[in-house]
Amino acid sequence: MANDHLTLTETAKLLLHSKEYDLPAYTGSEGEVGLDITQLRSKTGAITFDSGYGNTGSCASAITFIDGEKGILRYRGYPIEELAKNSNFIEVSFLLIFGHLPSKTELERFHFNLTHHSLIHEEMKKFYEGFPSSAHPMGILSSMVSSLSAFYPEAGYNADVELNITRLIAKLKTIAAFSYKKSIGQPYVYPRNDLSYSGDLLHMMFAVPSENYEVPKVVEEALDLLLILHADHEQNCSTSTVRMVGSSEANLFASISAGICALWGPLHGGANQQVIEMLEKIKADGSDYKKYISMAKDKESKFKLMGFGHRVYKNFDPRAQILKASADKVLSQLGVKDPLLDIARNLEEVALKDPFFIERKLYPNVDFYSGIIYRAIGIPTNMFTVMFALGRLPGWIAHWKEMRETPGARIYRPRQIYTGETKRSFIQLEKR
Ligand code: SDX
Repeated sequence: MANDHLTLTETAKLLLHSKEYDLPAYTGSEGEVGLDITQLRSKTGAITFDSGYGNTGSCASAITFIDGEKGILRYRGYPIEELAKNSNFIEVSFLLIFGHLPSKTELERFHFNLTHHSLIHEEMKKFYEGFPSSAHPMGILSSMVSSLSAFYPEAGYNADVELNITRLIAKLKTIAAFSYKKSIGQPYVYPRNDLSYSGDLLHMMFAVPSENYEVPKVVEEALDLLLILHADHEQNCSTSTVRMVGSSEANLFASISAGICALWGPLHGGANQQVIEMLEKIKADGSDYKKYISMAKDKESKFKLMGFGHRVYKNFDPRAQILKASADKVLSQLGVKDPLLDIARNLEEVALKDPFFIERKLYPNVDFYSGIIYRAIGIPTNMFTVMFALGRLPGWIAHWKEMRETPGARIYRPRQIYTGETKRSFIQLEKR
């Protein structure tokens, strides 16, 4: 059973239809308690109801820990603040996927494999020709990732997982960079083995054949930090999608392609693009940020303060804290003065003192400041969510791999409470 590796710590009592039932309760390594309802329906005939799964644990996981009340985020036990300060994206990817910080030899081997799998099949370039230049790069990304299963048909659920993990991490940045070059009508720039992961991505995006483009160190470091901060976030919408699709034993590429589609939504990874578009709209509206704070509080307006609020964080999102500080450093190092940063700061300052936001525990999330930095390092707005996907890829892979390795893991198949018509007889067309 998938619960075998959980420790039973107490029993909860459920009273339903005047009958008492025992519910086993498990406690995680950080003290979180989960009631086991895997036998609930067979014992009581009832199911639980939890719209949006805000109170439902879909799995036990050892990858990432979040304490939303305290604003804590740890990858495999390491605080995000320490990883952001001391590590790099490839090392963090290894940590998330394989569960430990790599030795020097392991890291060198991982990096060597990633650089030697970064080309995509030349035939795949034909797919780009089929997309209109206006195609959103997230649509291209999910299509191209799904098409990898056509080029590696052997990459089934039980295939050489490590080889396919390497292929996917190595090729996703090439696919992303090629989609950018396609959108601006420039020739593709091929991967280079002498650059870091982030450096190579930036080089493929911004190099042109007519000049020798050197990736500025501050830009490379800023992107690497952004990728680290986005690398995993436990059972968020897109990661749960990857687990859902993978639970049917779909291959890795198909599962990740589904995760990319889930991330695209404006309430999830698409929010970083929405934040910049919102800030630009406020700037165009005389930078009247107080007007937009009032709109966000007025349900009738349907306006949301994008980049604010979170299902889990009811305190500061630690990633937003790190990015807020980094935005200052990167913009001053680049000599960039972005009025949108001032608007963002003003919005945050006013919102955090406003009872509407305080009562609902709405704080800036990872998307609130990330777009400011992406802009400053030259990433176009419609590529922001692609950057999020590149960062989140190791997390998605780690969860797909963990699920696949969990003893007794079952296909995801939630139940429902039916509220439709009760039984009725068919009415012939002429009698309707
Ligand atoms: C990410 O899950 C993850 O971990 C995600 C993520 C990751 O790393 O994977 O952290 C990345 O997706 C961050 C979130 C990016 N999305 C946005 O910034 C979009 C704006 N935020 C909201 O749409 C919202 O806050 C969500 C989607 C993030 C969370 O939605 P919930 O948990 O379902 O909360 P809710 O919509 O029920 O809101 C609770 C209350 C409501 O008011 P009341 O009905 O109680 O009066 O807060 C209000 C909401 O109207 N509210 C907002 C708001 N967010 C919530 N009001 C104004 N502006 C907002 N941004």
